[in-house]
Amino acid sequence: MSSFVSRPRISPRLLITVGVALALVLLALLPETALASAPRPNWNPGPPWAPLDPKSPEMHMISNLFWIMLVLSGIVFIGVFGALIISIVRFSAGPNAAPGPQIYGNRIVEISWTAIPFLILIGAFIITAKYIHDINTSQAAGPPLNIIARGHQWWWEFYYPSLGVVTANEVHVPAGVPLHFHVESADVIHSFWAPQLQRQIDANPGQDNAVFVTMPETGVYGGACYEYCGDAHAWMKFEVIVQTPHDFALWVKHQKSPPAAPSNSLIALGRTVFMTHTCIKCHTITGVPGASGSVGPNLTHVGSRWAIAAGALPVSVPTVMMWIHDPNAYKPGVLMPGYPLLSQKDLRALATYLVSLK
Ligand code: CUA
Repeated sequence: MSSFVSRPRISPRLLITVGVALALVLLALLPETALASAPRPNWNPGPPWAPLDPKSPEMHMISNLFWIMLVLSGIVFIGVFGALIISIVRFSAGPNAAPGPQIYGNRIVEISWTAIPFLILIGAFIITAKYIHDINTSQAAGPPLNIIARGHQWWWEFYYPSLGVVTANEVHVPAGVPLHFHVESADVIHSFWAPQLQRQIDANPGQDNAVFVTMPETGVYGGACYEYCGDAHAWMKFEVIVQTPHDFALWVKHQKSPPAAPSNSLIALGRTVFMTHTCIKCHTITGVPGASGSVGPNLTHVGSRWAIAAGALPVSVPTVMMWIHDPNAYKPGVLMPGYPLLSQKDLRALATYLVSLK
């Protein structure tokens, strides 16, 4: 007996297409060898729940607001679902039950289910407005220290207008002093966030988005860009280094001084390599003639920083050599060109020079 029902057949073409697609996805997930084996510097943005482990009064307020809202909505959730479950269990009618009583309006119930949510939302609004006002006001006495945090593809520039200091990918701040961060962008939209210290704030081109923060305790806190901004978005990390006011003053003094003159012939050769290649077009080093570019990070004291390339590699002669030779291998999409034609001698001298810039 023949059947009209034919079994569905999977076409070989479909199988091949799915197989190739799966293989491509797996291939894309495999990290590139240089990327996977690259030594990465330490960077600690706190635990996954960092915003709920606040280290500044401003983040304390935001964390408190979260808990207040969670409890408020938890009470509503339990009330609504509790009533629903009780209704289902207690008042379910059997299949043969007679129709229930028909209700045409109940003023008390209608007023209460309008008024109660209204009052809850008014309460939530008042608390939120108060916290928004408070975190937009300096939480410590005294004039704030202004710091411009400018996002670039893909690194952070920090500029202290009142101190004349400029650095990259790490921002030193004095503990207990109110800070006023002015978050800007040199190109596309970035987002500035050290999750334990301040609220997330967008870096928009042509706009000054300011945020107050005070950090009472010394320590090192990680931050990053939290808005997708192109290929190397993931390598746009920074560190906030909270120091005692005394240590901060020493840091400022050191930053303002030009780096020491080359102390040996290798470092002197490195300085010459730096000056005679295109490095000076994009980077500034105080005291080096012609080196006043601002497209890339200021390198005046690069040897003292926690990392190069916004967290892509630690600072050492071998890692700086790897970086200059082929930056794209460690930070895909980076705008700095590699220098594969530089001789090993020149490359080592250049890296030694840069690392010596403490
Ligand atoms: Cu800058 Cu993402």
